[in-house]
Amino acid sequence: MKQIICRKFNLKIPLLLVLGFYFGCACPVDADDEAVFQIIGPVITAEPSSPSRWTLKQLEARVVSREISSRYFDKALGYEGSKFRVISMAALVRLFDPEGVSDAVLLDCFDDYQGILSIADIERYDIQVATRIEIRSEFKKPDWLNPLLVIVPDRKKAPFQERYLTANIRQLKFTRLREYYEPLRKVVGTASPVGFSSFKDNCLFCHSLMGIGGNKGARLLENYDFSRMKWKNKFRKDFFAFHHKDNADKQNVEQFVSDTQLQAITEFLSLVQGFTSNQENN
Ligand code: HEC
Repeated sequence: MKQIICRKFNLKIPLLLVLGFYFGCACPVDADDEAVFQIIGPVITAEPSSPSRWTLKQLEARVVSREISSRYFDKALGYEGSKFRVISMAALVRLFDPEGVSDAVLLDCFDDYQGILSIADIERYDIQVATRIEIRSEFKKPDWLNPLLVIVPDRKKAPFQERYLTANIRQLKFTRLREYYEPLRKVVGTASPVGFSSFKDNCLFCHSLMGIGGNKGARLLENYDFSRMKWKNKFRKDFFAFHHKDNADKQNVEQFVSDTQLQAITEFLSLVQGFTSNQENN
């Protein structure tokens, strides 16, 4: 008896795999129901509050979920007709930080991407988190496109930025914006140069600076000498060579920044590089 079951099982699995590949998945991308996400509440006392671990099922049982589409997402990825099962991020905030101690949620991802959203923006744009993603079968899904995923719902006009497309989230951590950006604040002071905000909204998630942000992309300060025109031009050229609309891994960042913004980003990076090398010399 045991043997028969085993043989059936052995046959079934490869067949399913082959069929799955053949039809290129019609393509629900679910996080495993048992996959565990961490949600770290705000720090109320000197002791950091302990992380709490949640499966998707547990989350969906606590916060109402619904199915929606997102033109914002489809436009950024060059898709049509994607569907999502989502829970409201504002509802998560109310659940985990009822006292309103924090003003931002840090989003650490499986692929070394680090997103961050202010709670003001979460409320203003009614930001959602997708627990299930359905991409139409004619479109290619990059490896990083997995739940949890930040979604701008159709009625809302969030600025078109990399900031509202964080995917592959493994941990939500309640935090404060001021503390988070403090190292970069030391460089720019009270001013908010265009280059600083453009970099925060579109680049820092993958190209970390001074210990903040993700490390999915190259270390820009190590690769370029921003005090020299030649290197600034190379930076621009490399940016367009990699982050264009046909980028195989759907990292079309070009769509979010104008020429002027990219120029300003270069100036901002030059400022940070000057600051860090001064610190090293002292
Ligand atoms: C989703 C993550 C991600 C975002 C967001 C992102 N990058 Fe990148 N970037 C990468 C990756 C990955 C590479 C290729 C990495 C490598 O060279 O190792 C790259 C490469 C680059 C390169 C070429 C580096 C080289 O050494 O060839 C430049 C320049 C660059 N990015 C600038 C930017 C700027 C400016 C922004 C914001 C406007 C940005 N990137 C946003 C991930 C990202």
